[in-house]
Formats: sequence, structure tokens, C-alpha cells
Amino acid sequence: MLKKINHVAIAVNNLEETAKFYQNILGLNLAGVEVVTAQKTKAGFLKIGESNIELLEPAEPTSPLVKFLETKGQGIHHICFEVDDIESAVKVFLERGAIMIDQKPRPGAHHTKVTFIHPKSSSGVLIELCELPKEG
Ligand code: CO
Repeated sequence: MLKKINHVAIAVNNLEETAKFYQNILGLNLAGVEVVTAQKTKAGFLKIGESNIELLEPAEPTSPLVKFLETKGQGIHHICFEVDDIESAVKVFLERGAIMIDQKPRPGAHHTKVTFIHPKSSSGVLIELCELPKEG
């Protein structure tokens, strides 16, 4: 059901500032910086092979990310697993006892559909599931 790790997301105070490390030192390319309105975040992706590092900055003072940064500071925010069919993945994981943050997928960056499994289910790691837009 899980295809691969699509991205590891890192919460930061300033996306462009942090991206300098990934670009200038690690040699990655920052692409697709986008404000994801549904999640009140600004997201930018640095591609590594088939996976990405996602840098996440709060886009509004009411973003849930603001509280995360206040309490935990900058650092790893979530791991995203890519799935083929997010609706059926959610259904199966609920049946298996997962605590889902969203019962229904919502819009993510780049026309994806995303949903989150609560860290209570996984000993502290927020897990995102994403389904990429179907081509054609
Ligand atoms: Co993500």
C-alpha cells in the first residue's frame, strides 16, 4: 500500500534562509515553493532521487506550525509516505486502529491529496500520506 517515502518535512522559521544550507552546502535544488492555503504553510521541495526534503515555514500567524516551532523548535516535522489510493489507505489504516488527524484527505502542495496519521499512533512521529495527481 505504501509506495515510498515521498518526503521528509522540516519545520523552519525561514524557508529561504534554511534552503541556503541545502543548496550551497549539500548541493540540492530548491523548487516548487508554494503557499499551501489549506495548511497555512509555505512549502519548498529539494529533490533527492525519488524523494524530497520539504521545508515548511508558517504562512500565517494562525498556522499550526507556529505552535510546533514554539514548543519543539526547528527540526523534523513529519515523514510522508506516498500511496496509490489515499481513500482506501485511510480506510484500511482506520480499520487497523490508526488514529487519523483527518478522516478525509485534503489538498496538499502540487495538487496532491494528503492526510495525516496522529503521532499518538506511532510513538511520536507525525505521518503524512499523499496521493499524487494522476497524469493525463
Ligand atoms: Co508534507
